[in-house]
Amino acid sequence: MLETATSIPAVRAAVAAARAEGRVIGFVPTMGALHEGHVRLMEHCRDRSGFTVASIFVNPTQFGPSEDFDRYPRALEDDLDKCREAGVDLVFTPSRAEVYPRGESASTFVEVPVLSRVLEGVVRPTHFRGVATVVLSLLNIVRPDLAVFGRKDYQQQLLIRRMVEDLHLGVEIETAPTVREADGLAMSSRNRYLDPDQRRAATVLFRALEAARRLVGDGERDADRIRQILRSTIESEKTARLEYAAVADAETLEELGEVAPGRAVVALLAARFGTTRLIDNARLTE
Ligand code: PAF
Repeated sequence: MLETATSIPAVRAAVAAARAEGRVIGFVPTMGALHEGHVRLMEHCRDRSGFTVASIFVNPTQFGPSEDFDRYPRALEDDLDKCREAGVDLVFTPSRAEVYPRGESASTFVEVPVLSRVLEGVVRPTHFRGVATVVLSLLNIVRPDLAVFGRKDYQQQLLIRRMVEDLHLGVEIETAPTVREADGLAMSSRNRYLDPDQRRAATVLFRALEAARRLVGDGERDADRIRQILRSTIESEKTARLEYAAVADAETLEELGEVAPGRAVVALLAARFGTTRLIDNARLTE
């Protein structure tokens, strides 16, 4: 049966009871507007733990002043059905005051340097500070043994791993694969903003990543040529506005000159379709 909690003491009591029964505690933080990608994260977590906690909280501090916090989709009843379907045991739906008792502007923040300043961090300078802060806070509330994040937000999961390591949080971080629609578009809560033309155009992200993977598969090692195929594929879609096309080290996100054998390399993309900004990524080497 799905339990829900809105307060920190209620979450802690439910988690303590599960732990007293010897169950491993797994955690999936979300901002709601759940889709099949979230359901898979929850199933991934459930398969590895004896008590699965999910949180639904649209975190204001990770949105910039001109971003979509106010219009971010909220669909609590439907989200709870999806959590039930995925076998979640406890859903935490805190208020802003529960997470930020002093108000957001007076809150303590945590920063993960370097990784938070590149790629997404250039366009969204305060985003990762908000993400790191809320994730640290939620991990401290739930105190799980493991927490699961999606590979679609590649930079985010890397940054969270770094924070957990640097601050000795003692929680295992797992990254679950990106879930895609049949035509390759990575699932995202923001896909619902797209009109039919933009929705069709947005598949160009996946097409660009596939073109890059093919190029590397054919032996291309020059990272600039790989960036070029990423860019030209995106630009072939007239309504897409490319923000970045990176070919980077999979651990440090440092832009590379060469895809050297034995090096883990990832391609990362961000583009706008109308006012909707989407990101995607793919490993170019294993
Ligand atoms: O990936 C998300 O949905 C959010 O960034 C997260 C990790 C739940 C923090 O608000």
